[in-house]
Amino acid sequence: MNHGNALVYLNGEFIPLSEARISIMDRGFLFGDSIYEVIPAYGGRLFRLQHHLQRLENSLHAIQMENPLSRAEWENILATLATQYQGEDQSVYLQVTRGVAPRRDHAIPEETIPTRFAFTTPFPTIDPQVYEQGIAAITLDDIRWRFCNIKATTLLPNVLLRQEAKERGAMEAILIRDGLAIEGAASNLFIVEDGQIITPPKGEHLLPGVTRDLLLELAAEAEIPYCEAPIRADQLDSADEIWLTSSTREIMPVTHLDDRPINNGRPGKLWRQLLSRFQAYKEELR
Ligand code: PDD
Repeated sequence: MNHGNALVYLNGEFIPLSEARISIMDRGFLFGDSIYEVIPAYGGRLFRLQHHLQRLENSLHAIQMENPLSRAEWENILATLATQYQGEDQSVYLQVTRGVAPRRDHAIPEETIPTRFAFTTPFPTIDPQVYEQGIAAITLDDIRWRFCNIKATTLLPNVLLRQEAKERGAMEAILIRDGLAIEGAASNLFIVEDGQIITPPKGEHLLPGVTRDLLLELAAEAEIPYCEAPIRADQLDSADEIWLTSSTREIMPVTHLDDRPINNGRPGKLWRQLLSRFQAYKEELR
């Protein structure tokens, strides 16, 4: 399908992408005053939809916005979009901005109509090499703001961090704040130490990932010990395994960090075990 002809949802209508327009006075454009979600759809079925819609609610609440649509309305819109690429797995994106105000003023305007936007794209296929060899990551200073639990579109720090990783031949940057490893520039962080899975606890400094939560559920089912605890930057170097999780990249094994191998430089045993549980969970949905 030609992407220009793909249908998108914009403010109550399904229209071709090439016809979708927003005002340049939209606060999402001017200030990054907006919230988003990225939801995988496997075989046309939205993955962990209620978790994503709950996080959307939480993000909107945190920026003093009401959800402009009901859960049922979101479900209908997203399900309609997810039927577009038959047979292909997709990533469904939605965004809510504070809308258009008559003049550019930082303070929140009294009455605006939120801009509601959603579109879908075929899922980027995960290179089989990622599963055979793992990926390289680098550590970088976490230059983001304090409220990283809000899924805001104000992503300039994440863009710059990811770009630096790319330029240094790595797939992701692991962000360090006050000596602690927090998460990736667009993913959550897990390590394995002495047979135990560790991931940082939820809080203001990291996004409460939907994939992260699922992984902990799968670990519990598999009776693999896990804990939510801060991870010191130096624990990364001595970890048996490091993984990064996200809706678009699922569970990636990090085998090289800052140009040094993690353990034997191969994807680890527990990663393999959880990946196969994750794949089985996905298959149940189809
Ligand atoms: N990003 N942390 C950050 C900073 C993220 O941007 C993301 C996802 C995650 C993982 O969350 P989840 O498992 O719910 O996808 C963690 C999305 C995919 C993006 O920005 O495109």
